[in-house]
Amino acid sequence: GSKMIKRPLILCLDQGTTSSRALVFNTHGRIVALAQEEFPQHFPRSGWVEHDAEDIWLSTLRTAQSAMAEAERGGDAEIVSIGITNQRETTVTWDAVSGDVIGRAIVWQDRRTADICTQLRADGREAAISERTGLTIDPYFSGTKLAWMLRNWDRAARLSSDGRLAFGTVDSFLIHRLTGGQMHLTDETNASRTLIYNIQNGGWDREIMGWLGIGEIQLPEVRPSSAWFGDTKPDLFGRSIPIMGVAGDQQAAAFGQACWHPGMVKSTYGTGCFLLANTGGELVQSSNRLLSTVACRTGTEPQYAIEGSIFIAGAVSQWLRDEMQLIKSASDTEALASSVESNAGLYMVPAFTGLGAPHWDADARGAIYGLTRSTSQAELVRAALESVAYQTLDLAKALEADGVKLNRLRVDGGMVGNNWFVQFLSDILDVDVDRPEIIESTARGAAFLAGLNAGVFSSVEKLEDLWQAERSFTPTMNSRIRNQYISGWDKAVKSTLYRAS
Ligand code: G3P
Repeated sequence: GSKMIKRPLILCLDQGTTSSRALVFNTHGRIVALAQEEFPQHFPRSGWVEHDAEDIWLSTLRTAQSAMAEAERGGDAEIVSIGITNQRETTVTWDAVSGDVIGRAIVWQDRRTADICTQLRADGREAAISERTGLTIDPYFSGTKLAWMLRNWDRAARLSSDGRLAFGTVDSFLIHRLTGGQMHLTDETNASRTLIYNIQNGGWDREIMGWLGIGEIQLPEVRPSSAWFGDTKPDLFGRSIPIMGVAGDQQAAAFGQACWHPGMVKSTYGTGCFLLANTGGELVQSSNRLLSTVACRTGTEPQYAIEGSIFIAGAVSQWLRDEMQLIKSASDTEALASSVESNAGLYMVPAFTGLGAPHWDADARGAIYGLTRSTSQAELVRAALESVAYQTLDLAKALEADGVKLNRLRVDGGMVGNNWFVQFLSDILDVDVDRPEIIESTARGAAFLAGLNAGVFSSVEKLEDLWQAERSFTPTMNSRIRNQYISGWDKAVKSTLYRAS
């Protein structure tokens, strides 16, 4: 008899800052299965954020196995390829021989390397680093985190001098584990966030590594986002499955939002918020403290984007829930924020881990302004949500100053399920904001990359039709109120900046 042909599916592993998720997509770009696990965050000191890489691995594996079982349960469909997308910059080191992880992963939000950054600036490295990497000198990126590990952990230093210390961002680490230690690879978008990768010529930059004191290290080989990254070890999923697409979560989101043409802009509201504007084949250097970064490509020509990065977005709801215990779940914020008429002059600047673009102030810490005896829980929640919109406005202003006019904005990520927030965002930006049918743009982007490479999708053009807006939000706020709100925010940020004091 002839073998039944099963419907092809794509498994996407979305390893984020606060949770690991696995989503299975069909050929229409729709989600057919999803599994998610939050994992522990470690905050050992002010401004430090760590993950246990074994938590990252095990939560990824468990969610992958469970989503896969659910998607293939009927027996008529089969996962044919895997896409990986991940929290970027987070730095992992392991013993290249045994595969053992060394210490905890240092998370992108971690500020412990502020001194190394100050030193690099004092050494006059800023211009060269920004020209070659597209980045600014900030603890955000992997390079200084890796340097810190080598300076502070004897075991890392010893392995390095024996030539067996492996470095990777989360994608590399997962590829290494998924392939049973066979592959040490990364993709261009992730490499572009390390501070040691030249985005003009596409190679690791040994000179910058020298400036950081990073000597002998095993670096991952860099491939385009839509490429083969090895096959999974057969015992993990009962058979071997090829990994066909890999991208940093923000670049994957831009791809999933179909921002394939220069001038198209998206912002994703996950743990942080990241606004990316496609600049096509042109590497645009910002004059307003935004970053230049590599975007996903499916052809032979490099693609670039200009990026604004905010460290705290959804994380503010997590803080309200876990530390303040003001809400039970992030979804409570919508009703609370809608229950108050105005912002009552209350502003929260969530500089919990410093401020990112366009301020780049590693030493700033969070603040609340305008507290009165009548300040309520609902007002505080509203101020927290508002802060995410104002921060997006600051990015939009920098982008416009760089010559990219924001005509409309595509948004995605968990927070955009909150209608109050998206409406307020549209009001403050004073532009139309489009929310797509599938707000899981990150996972979808990685599934597109893997699916294109696996032949499940025939072309990028065909994928264009899969993007649909579910709802567009139009600004309704009167401009006097808008200006009043914004000037209150500007004042609050100014008072919070550490460098200003
Ligand atoms: O650059 C950090 C970013 O990749 C983290 O994304 O979604 O975990 O906030 P997310």
